[in-house]
Amino acid sequence: MRIAFFDTHHFEKDVFQSANEKYGFQIEFLDVRLSAKTARIVEGAEVVCSFVNDKLNEECINVLKEMGVKLIALRSAGFNHVDLTAAHKSNLIVTRVPGYSPYAVAEFGVGLLLTLNRKIHRAYFRVRELNFSLDGLVGFDLHGKTVGVIGTGRIGKIFAQIMTSFGCRVLAVDLQKDSELEKNPGITYTDLQSLCRQSDVISLHVPLTLGTHHIIGEKALSEMKVGVFIINTGRGALIDAKALIKGLKAEKIGGAALDVYEEEEEVFFHDLSDKILKDDTLARLLTFPNVLITSHQAFLTKEALGNIALTTLESIDEFRKTGSVSRSKVVSPEDRIRTGL
Ligand code: NAI
Repeated sequence: MRIAFFDTHHFEKDVFQSANEKYGFQIEFLDVRLSAKTARIVEGAEVVCSFVNDKLNEECINVLKEMGVKLIALRSAGFNHVDLTAAHKSNLIVTRVPGYSPYAVAEFGVGLLLTLNRKIHRAYFRVRELNFSLDGLVGFDLHGKTVGVIGTGRIGKIFAQIMTSFGCRVLAVDLQKDSELEKNPGITYTDLQSLCRQSDVISLHVPLTLGTHHIIGEKALSEMKVGVFIINTGRGALIDAKALIKGLKAEKIGGAALDVYEEEEEVFFHDLSDKILKDDTLARLLTFPNVLITSHQAFLTKEALGNIALTTLESIDEFRKTGSVSRSKVVSPEDRIRTGL
């Protein structure tokens, strides 16, 4: 069986090749991203394997169908970049990797918070230039602070638990309360407004849906404490970047650490070091000393990559043997309706 593997990165190719020894699929590693424009290259492949910044809109799905594709295997947990209704209409199965390593993302979120707060990113460069001054590097103790966690699913739950071990009080918001977290005396479920009003740090762990799009916008920001730190390892469009810039300029926001960005498709995962950055919002964000941006790397651990490769190939193998894939790994239009995407 042939797999057209779109948007291949060095960091994943070897992992997929070694996981594939067991299955013997014919994987064609392609550098280009999947979109309506590039979808025709799949000719002869029954399966496409897609990453987070591919654009699987209706037009792209129709071309895939026309080219004889039967299965779209997403090597991500998120599926907001796929038109699931169009896929369903075209009888295309869409699989994903629901939880490859929540620790990878939660631990990275904590790393961002520590780096931003204690200004380790700035200290690193200073010392390399033999500037041993400490001026401008004052942080705050996390112990005793209030941390707001928006979304307590697989990743948010671990992030919340790590924060309680730092001696923080955790306020949580979720449509569904986690029974284990509810029993933890350091964690209290509340509503978004109270979380915004009381938290010193706010970390985002909800998926991108109609209900969460710009969940951090002008209104939520106006409720927040002066000096609040915002950490986003969820999806870029959870934050209204223009409102964030306003809050940073007004010195209302103490710091923002962003592993994801609303318009990241054109920028993240590419080496643009000899190009002109066209995105003025991102360019402005990069000028703030208290903004730390990483290029959607929270998932990037050996364990997570191994799990992504194994689960993706397992799903494809199940499809090869039975013509279908178990429900827990499939995303369907019901998921789209549930999430409002
Ligand atoms: P999950 O599905 O286990 O948890 C999401 C939680 O958000 C659920 O408990 C759900 O009830 C809650 N939720 C959904 N809509 C809500 C709303 N409107 N208000 C309050 N709560 C709401 O997902 P998981 O695995 O924890 O991942 C969370 C997100 O992290 C993913 O959707 C993805 O966007 C992002 N992610 C980012 C990665 C990165 O490398 N930066 C890697 C993996 C995931």
